Amino acid sequence: MDAEVMENRKRGLRYMCALSLLLVSVCPLSCTGSWMWLGVTSTGALEKLDCTNLPLSHRQRELCRKKPFLLPSIQDGARLAIRECQNQFRHERWNCSTTNEVSVFGHELTSGTKETAFIYAVMAAGLVHTVTRSCSQGNMTECGCDPRLQGSSVPAEGWHWGGCSDHIQYGTWFSRKFIDNAVKNMSTSRGGYTLLAMNQHNTEAGRQAIDRTMATDCRCHGVSGSCAVKTCWRTMAPFERVGLYLKDRYEHSVQVSDRSKRKTRRKEQRRPQVDKHQLIFFNKSPNYCLEDQRRGVAGTRGRRCNRTSAGPDGCNLLCCGRGYNTHVVRHVQRCECKFVWCCYVRCRRCESMNDMHTCK
Ligand SMILES: *[C@@H]1O[C@H](CO)[C@@H](O)[C@H](O)[C@H]1NC(C)=O
Ligand SMILES: *[C@@H]1O[C@H](CO)[C@@H](O)[C@H](O)[C@H]1NC(C)=O
Ligand SMILES: *[C@@H]1O[C@H](CO)[C@@H](O)[C@H](O)[C@H]1NC(C)=O
Ligand SMILES: *[C@@H]1O[C@H](CO)[C@@H](O)[C@H](O)[C@H]1NC(C)=O
Repeated sequence: MDAEVMENRKRGLRYMCALSLLLVSVCPLSCTGSWMWLGVTSTGALEKLDCTNLPLSHRQRELCRKKPFLLPSIQDGARLAIRECQNQFRHERWNCSTTNEVSVFGHELTSGTKETAFIYAVMAAGLVHTVTRSCSQGNMTECGCDPRLQGSSVPAEGWHWGGCSDHIQYGTWFSRKFIDNAVKNMSTSRGGYTLLAMNQHNTEAGRQAIDRTMATDCRCHGVSGSCAVKTCWRTMAPFERVGLYLKDRYEHSVQVSDRSKRKTRRKEQRRPQVDKHQLIFFNKSPNYCLEDQRRGVAGTRGRRCNRTSAGPDGCNLLCCGRGYNTHVVRHVQRCECKFVWCCYVRCRRCESMNDMHTCK
């Protein structure tokens, strides 16, 4: 073994030690969410790690050991979900920013707010999506396309089921098995929710979102454009659509009571009826305006805003009325491109001055 490899090993070990120390200090509060860390770590780092030394709970580690071939899908799922969370919230005061720490989303992972609800839902949905995609692409022996549609009622006259329908059952099963904590019995007769139950509810709502947004695709086949064979198959929506669906759920999420904060635990105070597709939360969100290190809020100072927008990205709302700074930025672009025979493209350099606004 040469010196460099040795050095890398040592560095890796130090890293692992730091990680386990971190885990001890962060657990158990965010342990159920620490698999999300796979979404912010590089693929290279993952190659050095395996099921035994990842920040996973005991149960997750067992599952990972039994199905190591799913590890890339788990990581892809976490990445996909984090990217989509940031996409959906790019114009909001809370912009779904992450850190490289095991808690990934920091305080929002455990704050019991609408943001917590969205995080759990989108992460679970991401996992279902990537595992299912991997099944459909024939990468796994344990799952494949959905065989159940064959023989069931046809989508329309003259059409039949064919091709590969996404088999979300396996991905859904895996997501449940992997994410949900060992606590099986979520029903609490005393009313109200524990944080664990809240997270579990929203996690399931995230999986349901994949089911809810599935669509039927159809195509004609035949020689020279004739429509001799008409097949349809069920397919998952692009993850962006799932994100949009969950964002809407987030905006209509339902406040429930926090069992641990209740002073009187009266039997008659039952849980409100909550649909399994709804997101639930128990704490009101902070306004995310000003930096608050204790609560892990970054604040919106320095965020870019849109002066003419009436939406959440408008300077008024995003900057919480504090006002904004205007900078002139020079923009250089290739322009007036022409194709020159033969074979290249010649462009001019165009400069423009644009106003950019950032929150005070
Ligand atoms: C979110 O906003 C903060 C500033 O409040 C910024 O530093 C960060 O890069 C943003 N994150 C994303 C993912 O846009
Ligand atoms: C399936 O396997 C192929 C070949 O190993 C790989 O390129 C592809 O990314 C995999 N797809 C998924 C969804 O994991
Ligand atoms: C779950 O909890 C409820 C209420 O505490 C109880 O009635 C029920 O028997 C429990 N179910 C299981 C499977 O333990
Ligand atoms: C700002 O908002 C307006 C109105 O919503 C929109 O038309 C415009 O494209 C936005 N500008 C930028 C730079 O996003």
